[in-house]
Amino acid sequence: MRELSVGEAARRAGVAVSTLHFYERKGLIRSLRTSGNQRRYGVDVLRRLAVIRVAQRVGIPLEAVRRAFEALPDERTPTREEWARLSAAWHDELEERIAQLVNLKDRLTGCIGCGCLSLTACGLANPGDELAAEGHGPRRWATP
Ligand code: FES
Repeated sequence: MRELSVGEAARRAGVAVSTLHFYERKGLIRSLRTSGNQRRYGVDVLRRLAVIRVAQRVGIPLEAVRRAFEALPDERTPTREEWARLSAAWHDELEERIAQLVNLKDRLTGCIGCGCLSLTACGLANPGDELAAEGHGPRRWATP
């Protein structure tokens, strides 16, 4: 497998070298060491870095990514089937996040029952903040 220096991997992935070091400390990626103790990454690290970056962009915690990556082998390039297994194992969590994002998108302009009573709609949807009796937080914004 082709190997990349830390600089090459960072440049190709579009991240800072310090980000690679951070991801490595978090157990998301692994490097090998040369005899001169320099980091080398298998070229397949680029796929992992791409998944990490997209996951971060949509708010998935790094710990969740790390857990998902546990389904992949460390010592060789994951196969298509192994990526498929990761995808299947991660499916429910991703579906829940998608539902939360859709909920956020669809309800951002209406009353969410947070207690602010700042919108005209709050007078109908949450008169006098009556939803506070149900608990804290945005009562109409619960996960579907
Ligand atoms: S948006 Fe906050 S109570 Fe309606």
